[in-house]
Amino acid sequence: MNADELRSKYIEFFKSKGHAQIQGKSLIPDNDPTVLFTTAGMHPLVPYLLGEAHPAGKRLVDYQKCIRTGDIDAVGDPSHLTFFEMLGNWSLGDYFKEGAIEMSFEFLTSPKWLGIPIEKLGVTVFRGEGDIPRDDESAAVWKRLGIPESRVSYRPREDNWWGPAGSTGPCGPDSEMFYDFGKAPCGPDCGPGCSCGKWLEIWNDVFMQYNKNAEGAYEPLARKCVDTGMGIERTVTILNGKKSVYDTEIFAPIIAAVEKASGHTYGGDAGSAAAIDKDKSVRIVSDHIRSSTFILGDPKAVSPSNVGAGYVLRRLIRRAVRHCRKLGITGGPGTVNGPLLSPIAEIIVDQLKGPYPELQENRAFIIDELNKEEEKFLETLQKGEHEFEKILPNLLKDPRKIMSGRLAFKLYDTYGFPIELTEELAAEQGMTVNRAEFDEAFKKHQELSRAGGDQAFKGGLADHSETTTRYHTATHLLQRALRTVLGDHVAQKGSNITAERMRFDFSHSAPMSHEEIARVQDMVNEQIKRDLPVKMEVMSLDEAKASGAMALFGEKYESQVKVYTIGDCSTGVFSREVCGGPHVEHTGTLGKFIIQKEQSSSAGVRRIRAVLE
Ligand code: ALA
Repeated sequence: MNADELRSKYIEFFKSKGHAQIQGKSLIPDNDPTVLFTTAGMHPLVPYLLGEAHPAGKRLVDYQKCIRTGDIDAVGDPSHLTFFEMLGNWSLGDYFKEGAIEMSFEFLTSPKWLGIPIEKLGVTVFRGEGDIPRDDESAAVWKRLGIPESRVSYRPREDNWWGPAGSTGPCGPDSEMFYDFGKAPCGPDCGPGCSCGKWLEIWNDVFMQYNKNAEGAYEPLARKCVDTGMGIERTVTILNGKKSVYDTEIFAPIIAAVEKASGHTYGGDAGSAAAIDKDKSVRIVSDHIRSSTFILGDPKAVSPSNVGAGYVLRRLIRRAVRHCRKLGITGGPGTVNGPLLSPIAEIIVDQLKGPYPELQENRAFIIDELNKEEEKFLETLQKGEHEFEKILPNLLKDPRKIMSGRLAFKLYDTYGFPIELTEELAAEQGMTVNRAEFDEAFKKHQELSRAGGDQAFKGGLADHSETTTRYHTATHLLQRALRTVLGDHVAQKGSNITAERMRFDFSHSAPMSHEEIARVQDMVNEQIKRDLPVKMEVMSLDEAKASGAMALFGEKYESQVKVYTIGDCSTGVFSREVCGGPHVEHTGTLGKFIIQKEQSSSAGVRRIRAVLE
């Protein structure tokens, strides 16, 4: 069974169980201060898991593109991926443990669906901790369905508790499903969930019962929900009797292209250390180009940069280039051999443009951005590697085999040579870099902190605190005001909200004049003073468009959407947008809106930073 078939079967199965298919969302989440990328299918559904009614109903199913870069350095082993597809089904206050497990079991084992032999499956359930008891209820359901007690593992919070993805949000105990590769157990305690390589997790049923609040307390949710996630790449692996995601048809055309360009046969000579090293590079190249292609192919694409999601993208592209070179692939944009990464991106676009048409729509942009970044980086690499080689003889004299952080910083500062690459080059010589010293030097010199980016790598969710909700409503007022003052070409290109401030990116080609900024600020403050009501209605996307609601261009929406209107027939409608919320009920609660900065964000895109006081 290939990925396309698995995707279709999953959706079909859950539709047959009364689930409505919803659209997977952008990889770049909206209005979420603590996360750069969508890391799970539940991300876009957080407000609904916390109690809001979803326009499509109580049973939902979808497939969602996800990026997890928390363990970017682990990518290269046989199972880690930074980009993956997640299949998910949700119950919003409908079925709970028993219903979820029964459906998971049927989909996994029924010959009509995946037909995995029961004896190849094992499960884990929450062992209990503090006030929260052991999840005997889930265990009982699994056993009733035919999973023997010996293949039910009771595991601690580290293993069997999911969420919140950030510091606050919905969470609860989970029950994970594992495939048994048939290897001998690694010891008496080896069971599902053991990381020895015998078991591979393929699906997770999360029983969302709590909301972790800002004080760190777990408040029971008024409405219990189910959130599940099945990894497509992993499930295709086991369904086809493979051992690694990289051995599946998903990666076959990508790896074939890397093999052809490098002359290295993947998995061909697993005995030699050099071949093992090259296999790792093949996996890194394949994974990172997939992630980069999806980030650039997103309706809310970012370009490589030194902050936030753009920085992650830059790091993925640059690491892929570096490993291409380790594989002996030479070339680059404008050379006889041509670009390294973009020909592989083309393969990925062709492979996945069915389920993700945005890849095809953004093909030219993907190729162009990859080529540009690659070219820039090849220049940097050349200079940096040359410098590294020059200082190497001195470095090798150090008996402790530690490269000073100051020297690493110099490479970064003078040649733009990333610390990760300095560390890799050093590691190749059996050396480490004094990272603490580097970080200190970096901090001193760099205001543009990429620390934000690193934290957000790990994923996380917006806290829907009062302050962020106020900022969220302010973005709607701001967008309307900008369109009124600057013209209807203004469209939102992104926003980022923290409890301290908001950033709003929008299409506009010239810097705003002082007068324009003042007019926009005044207009927003006027709407706040008028204390306009904010109302939410659910309607079809067509109705929403017909009602004049603004929607994010290129974003995918469900057929039923939420529309937030600021102002009503007595006050006059000021703004109407398709949006997931949440929002305040009256604009009067926003406080004073102050634009602190207006600057360029990227070509044709301006950025406003504003605060509410
Ligand atoms: N949100 C759960 C996960 O990502 C299903 O594993």
